[in-house]
Amino acid sequence: MFALLFLFIALACAYPNRGPCTGNCFAHDPGMIQRASDGKYFRFSTGNGISIMTSNSLRGPWEADGVVLPDGTKIHLDGVDNKKDLWAPDVHYQDDTYYMYYVTSQIGTRNSQIGVATSKTMEKGSWTDHGAVGIPANDAYNRIDPNWITINGKQYLNFGSFWNDLYQVEMESPLKIGSATPHQIAFNETLNHREEAAFMFQHGDFYYLTYSSGLAGGYTADYPATGAEYEIKVCRSKTGTGEFVDKEGTSCQKSGGSNLLSSHGQVYAPGGQGVIQDQHLGPVLYYHYYPLNKKNENKQPDTSGYAYGWNELAWENGWPVVK
Ligand SMILES: *[C@@H]1O[C@H](CO)[C@@H](O)[C@H](O)[C@H]1NC(C)=O
Repeated sequence: MFALLFLFIALACAYPNRGPCTGNCFAHDPGMIQRASDGKYFRFSTGNGISIMTSNSLRGPWEADGVVLPDGTKIHLDGVDNKKDLWAPDVHYQDDTYYMYYVTSQIGTRNSQIGVATSKTMEKGSWTDHGAVGIPANDAYNRIDPNWITINGKQYLNFGSFWNDLYQVEMESPLKIGSATPHQIAFNETLNHREEAAFMFQHGDFYYLTYSSGLAGGYTADYPATGAEYEIKVCRSKTGTGEFVDKEGTSCQKSGGSNLLSSHGQVYAPGGQGVIQDQHLGPVLYYHYYPLNKKNENKQPDTSGYAYGWNELAWENGWPVVK
């Protein structure tokens, strides 16, 4: 009985609190980066042409600072009327230019495209849309949730959701895929193939693949039930292009995947994550979540919106843990 109570307390406290946030703390599928010139933080979010939030600190105060594509994307998809309904921004800096990958899609279908926009400063009014990157259509995958990475001098885009989960494709340039064929990097064969929002980064000898497992908040009309909601998983590989395994050594193409962050305390359904190499703190995990209202006895998520969360990362036995 006491042992059980102890176990329960240990599990309930498994995750430290999220880092603080002041000012505008909205985030949905956030993409975050520090500007090279002045260290200013930019946080981009899904919806409304991709919103821009800026701050001089991870903690805030964060300010809303306009949108990336006020006129929406130039990509045309039959069935998608709202060209400003853009999702899941992923930003990196290369050769004096910021590249942002984004998604236009009909939710719950494979009628999707990944586009790219560029800017020299990331400020509102500075972005140029280049349209689709050109991932070939295929019923095997869904072209959403882009994430760029460079491995041994080659550029890759990770992407995918549901159906056969996560894929990777080599890029000819940061604007175009070229002739490469996407290959699968992670798959959960156990149930509904609910893996999305890949974010990969290098640390030491490994490439770490984080992703969101479960159901995103807005995917169904009712918010996902406890146990079905988003949580953040991690796998690792020496090559970065395949052979990802979890802490037990299980292949992440055969349902492997170790927990990095799940619902805890006031944080419900963390996901849509990324890792920023902070100039002061080192690697920091950032994500969105639903705040649970302490006064709400049913512990239902606060459906008024997604919030931004972050935690520094530490390494234990070669695996990242939140601090
Ligand atoms: C695979 O899916 C099952 C059922 O949805 C889930 O319980 C499990 O956590 C998932 N595993 C991974 C590694 O995502």
